[in-house]
Amino acid sequence: MDATKVARINAGDPPIYELGLEDLLKRHIGQNLRATTDLAQAVANSEISLIAVGTPFDGSAIDLSYIREVARQIGTVLRDKTDYHVVIVKSTVVPGTTEDTVLPILEEASGKRAGPDFGVGMNPEFLREGEAINDFMEPDRIVLGGIDERSIAALDELYAGFPDVDKVRTNPRTAEMIKYTANSLLATLISFSNEIGNLCAQVGVDVVEVMEGVHLDKRLSPILADGTRVNPASLTYLAAGCGFGGSCFPKDVKALIAYGENEGHSMALLKSVIHVNEAQPQKMLALLHKHFPDLKGRRITVLGMAFKPGTDDIRESPSLPVTKQLLDAGAIVTGFDPIACEEAQKVFGDRVVFREDLADALSDAEAVLLMTRWPQFEQLPELVKNLSTPPLVIDGRRMLTRTALSRYEGIGLGRA
Ligand code: UDX
Repeated sequence: MDATKVARINAGDPPIYELGLEDLLKRHIGQNLRATTDLAQAVANSEISLIAVGTPFDGSAIDLSYIREVARQIGTVLRDKTDYHVVIVKSTVVPGTTEDTVLPILEEASGKRAGPDFGVGMNPEFLREGEAINDFMEPDRIVLGGIDERSIAALDELYAGFPDVDKVRTNPRTAEMIKYTANSLLATLISFSNEIGNLCAQVGVDVVEVMEGVHLDKRLSPILADGTRVNPASLTYLAAGCGFGGSCFPKDVKALIAYGENEGHSMALLKSVIHVNEAQPQKMLALLHKHFPDLKGRRITVLGMAFKPGTDDIRESPSLPVTKQLLDAGAIVTGFDPIACEEAQKVFGDRVVFREDLADALSDAEAVLLMTRWPQFEQLPELVKNLSTPPLVIDGRRMLTRTALSRYEGIGLGRA
């Protein structure tokens, strides 16, 4: 329980950055929304509890300690509650967790039986950071997992405001698996593209051209009756870069691998997805080494600390290992990110000088590593042009026109 966060929420001040969240919170707080540290009272006075605590990956498996603890606390309250209550797991948990871990704890702590006495369900979230509100309001699908009809009906009622959205009504185990599978597939697309990109770079082919050719397959980008081609958002994951990060993909893929291995499966493909991804930030450094064999005293600018644009989240960002290795090699590192510098500063302290202005960050760089696809980096060719000695630009997201820069390197770019 974090009283500070609760107080901030009640004051209409979101404790995390998320586009549109402050407005939304201010509109509802004190009206139909209230935060509290009093779990017992919250459960007693509601019909549904959604468990959304963290499920970190502890290095060998998913850590369910927070889930267990909250299930025990909710169960204790259910002991004295006479009205029917439904407990829904929203946290990402490996298949079986809701039925084999949460349900027995609820039964034990409440002295009641799941099914006749209270409901249990699993309702995964598919929100992207930075787009969470939009993804919630306009979901692709809603997955309603429940142990029985009544639990699913409670979820149906909860989402009654989304009558036109496709709903998958299923058991909790399947709901849990859908979430992992969706994230693992997207992570696989990225690592697949990176493996191809690394080969392209080696053999004198440009991965951007290759992927453009691949994307034009009608099965990937269908052509409508009126002749227009649809470019689904999934295609943006079929692109090479310096690797994926964030609080979901790396953790979820690793948790699914650990779960699968425990069930006796080798999980060879997903292990490779992680393996390719962990090697990918090194490709940035390898491109840098081609031009600067010794980084000692070299002035290097890292552009983008967040794991993706639109967020200040730096968890598992490829910028972290890259920046660390630059520092270890003795480089003088300048950092820039439109919103994530504060977070990055917590990691690197004064070993990295963070600039608030993009032009300042570039002004005396010998090399620039573009790590995050922030739209403002499109100005780079313009900004660099005015410098007396233009730096080498290494494009980790392949977002710049290579001919617009005099000294350019990119992930997956081979030169014949
Ligand atoms: C992801 C899933 O998209 C979301 O459905 C799930 O609920 C949580 O995990 P998130 O981690 O916020 O959301 O980020 P996402 O935008 O999917 O990006 C994840 C990684 O993929 C990032 O490292 C990003 O750089 C990379 N990515 C994303 C791409 O390489 N290309 C893209 O087009 C989008």
